[in-house]
Amino acid sequence: MIHFADQAQAIEASITENTCVASSTMRIRLTSSEFRQAACPGQFFMCRNVDGSDPLIGRAFALYDTGHDWVDLVYAVKGKFTQWLRNRPAGTKLGVWGPLGNSFACTPVDHLIMVAGGIGQTPFLTLAREALGKQAYGQGRRCGYASKVTFCYGAKSSEYFAGLDDFKATGAEVLLATDDGSVGPARLVTDLLNDVLASSSNLQRRIVCCGPEPMMQRVGEIAIRNDIDCQVSMETPMACGLGICFTCVAKVGTEQEWDYKRTCVEGPIFSAREIVW
Ligand SMILES: Cc1cc2nc3c(=O)[nH]c(=O)nc-3n(C[C@H](O)[C@H](O)[C@H](O)COP(=O)(O)OP(=O)(O)OC[C@H]3O[C@@H](n4cnc5c(N)ncnc54)[C@H](O)[C@@H]3O)c2cc1C
Ligand code: FES
Repeated sequence: MIHFADQAQAIEASITENTCVASSTMRIRLTSSEFRQAACPGQFFMCRNVDGSDPLIGRAFALYDTGHDWVDLVYAVKGKFTQWLRNRPAGTKLGVWGPLGNSFACTPVDHLIMVAGGIGQTPFLTLAREALGKQAYGQGRRCGYASKVTFCYGAKSSEYFAGLDDFKATGAEVLLATDDGSVGPARLVTDLLNDVLASSSNLQRRIVCCGPEPMMQRVGEIAIRNDIDCQVSMETPMACGLGICFTCVAKVGTEQEWDYKRTCVEGPIFSAREIVW
């Protein structure tokens, strides 16, 4: 199904908070009664500087959390836009349009396993809450469809883990892996995933994954090998978020053929089996 941004609104939102939540990681709160609780787990918002033309192009950020009249995004400070955004004080206006894209599946499952690498945890807070029946999102989506949720979260070092208390509060099991061994032995998030799969083979499982592409590819391979459905959230660079510019394409297809698909309207969530990495 293609999501032509027909639920999206474009507004100028005020930043009310822009705080550091982990090393080089910020959480920003935008006031917006327009978005209310329309956004669903896995959807994203485009954000842009409205006071000038540098940075010119907007950037996509996954919905992290939302309330009656606010939306929270969490971003890693990396390049041009996020370095600019880090220094914006409360009261700054930001051009925001969304919610955009499709969302994660909400079909019943015994065990939902969320795998995140780096800043890839951002789409999973709302998903964990929804899956465990703590909060409903969007319209017509189920709430409370997983008996158990495990969140496998990998980072370079423990200082990059953002929002651990938020995730623990959902009731999800939270498992951590670091490259440098600053939490437990040095290991990859895929090692965590393999352990979780080995201990839950009697359950019907679904995997969702977001992070660097090599990690998502590896998680997709593990899922296919274990015959488990796996959805990945693609983070290809985007300019419009609306299906117009084609900057965001990914190779998507069957085993024999592939085509470019726009991740902003045909994604960002795809079955791992569909992606040609
Ligand atoms: C659907 C979707 C959801 C997303 N959700 C999130 C989210 O929740 N949180 C989040 O943080 N991001 C998210 N992203 C990524 C986000 O849209 C931006 O791509 C990201 O924030 C980087 O933007 P930037 O302008 O800071 O970096 P850019 O300037 O666009 O740089 C892009 C890359 O180049 C590298 N780079 C930049 N300058 C240099 C340099 N001088 N030397 C070497 N390397 C350099 C940066 O490290 C970065 O990796 C999402 C993307 C998509 C498509
Ligand atoms: S970002 Fe413009 S078509 Fe997808």
